[in-house]
Amino acid sequence: MAAGPMTSPVRYDPLDEATLADPYPQLAALRGKTPVAWHEVMECWLITRYADCLRVLRDHETFARDPRRLGVQVPDAHLSVQVLDPPQQAAVRSLFMTALHAQNLDALQNSVGQAIRERLQQSAAQPVVEAMRELAQPVALTAIADLLGVTPPPLAEWAQISDTIMRSMDAGLDPELIEPGRRARAQLSDLVDSWFTITGRPSGLLGHVRAHTADAGPEQAAYVRHTARVMFQGGYSTLTAALGNLLHTLAHHREIWPVLRERRDLVRTAVDELVRFDGPVQGTTRLATGDVTFGDVRVRRGEKVTVLFTAANRDPDAFASPDRLVLDRTPNRHLGYGWGTHACLGTVMAQRVLAVLVDALLDTQLWPCPAGDAPRRRTATMRTFAQLPLCFQP
Ligand code: HEM
Repeated sequence: MAAGPMTSPVRYDPLDEATLADPYPQLAALRGKTPVAWHEVMECWLITRYADCLRVLRDHETFARDPRRLGVQVPDAHLSVQVLDPPQQAAVRSLFMTALHAQNLDALQNSVGQAIRERLQQSAAQPVVEAMRELAQPVALTAIADLLGVTPPPLAEWAQISDTIMRSMDAGLDPELIEPGRRARAQLSDLVDSWFTITGRPSGLLGHVRAHTADAGPEQAAYVRHTARVMFQGGYSTLTAALGNLLHTLAHHREIWPVLRERRDLVRTAVDELVRFDGPVQGTTRLATGDVTFGDVRVRRGEKVTVLFTAANRDPDAFASPDRLVLDRTPNRHLGYGWGTHACLGTVMAQRVLAVLVDALLDTQLWPCPAGDAPRRRTATMRTFAQLPLCFQP
């Protein structure tokens, strides 16, 4: 007999200081005691088992990303690859996938690698480096702008816009974030629109996209622009967070260093494992399109379901020794990049940038070490650092 909403005896507040610092014990408790639990404040079901998370992500018929399928209005400006579901999503998703595959990722990797090496050399000369500002943000901005084929905006100005948008993703927990988020999104729109109107021969991913949508109708053209915004802002903020999390994990696990020095061939699997271990995207939401059950828990049509990637990625039923870093973990079907029709479009590029960073650390023999308090940002969706003081030592 299916039960109605069931709250968990495990208290889970993603914005609590201790949870921000280390959410994994609470996520394990949730997964162990109430793997599908109703959260009163977030007004959604929290899904924490790997198998259940995968089920939600795979079954886009039953679990909608697009709220319009449940009769909920969505502003036109939000309709991008990220919100549209199949079949409407297909054309825009495949356009961006094709554009991505048409890019010379080796050349991109080389230029990002060069930028990282220069930054590391500068960092080595300083006793303490705030690695989010000095390393993660500039590297992410260079990488995304190179990929899209655009001139990057000034970092300080852009970081402010991006932070405000990122924080507004938690507007459900704090409505005061809505208005600043709206203003920052308008600034992002102006920036991205300018890339669609510049004259001359556009290059990079956006050049490809523009060339292949010249004859698209107004609806499709709008989806394309909105998706370009997601690529730029989402790609930048997630990559920044991922670079910071990776550096933090490396700084606290010095045992990795001699292993990777001996086995450079493990860098690719290691960066995937580092995303599984402490990835930047904590979760995503879907809406149930009908009544559905998880064991004896019934989720009703229209209810919100939050898939917690960070919990699924430490599920012992899916990963042996989930709280350990296993650099050669293979296969490693973690959910750090999502799964299914909304899986990350930037996975290949992100993997390359993370690998290039680890390669550069190995080449320069500069390994990060903790150099002070590293507070997390008070954001529930994105797991990232507000500051990350590190020193880089041979
Ligand atoms: C390590 C870095 C990154 C991680 C861990 C990551 C993670 C994710 C995750 C978990 C999702 C799925 C969210 C969901 O199901 O709702 C996603 C979607 C997406 N990501 Fe990433 N991402 C990263 C970097 C990037 C980069 C660099 C780009 C762009 C170049 C990018 C572009 C996108 C886009 C466009 C989507 C939406 C896809 C869709 O809904 O069809 N991501 N990402």
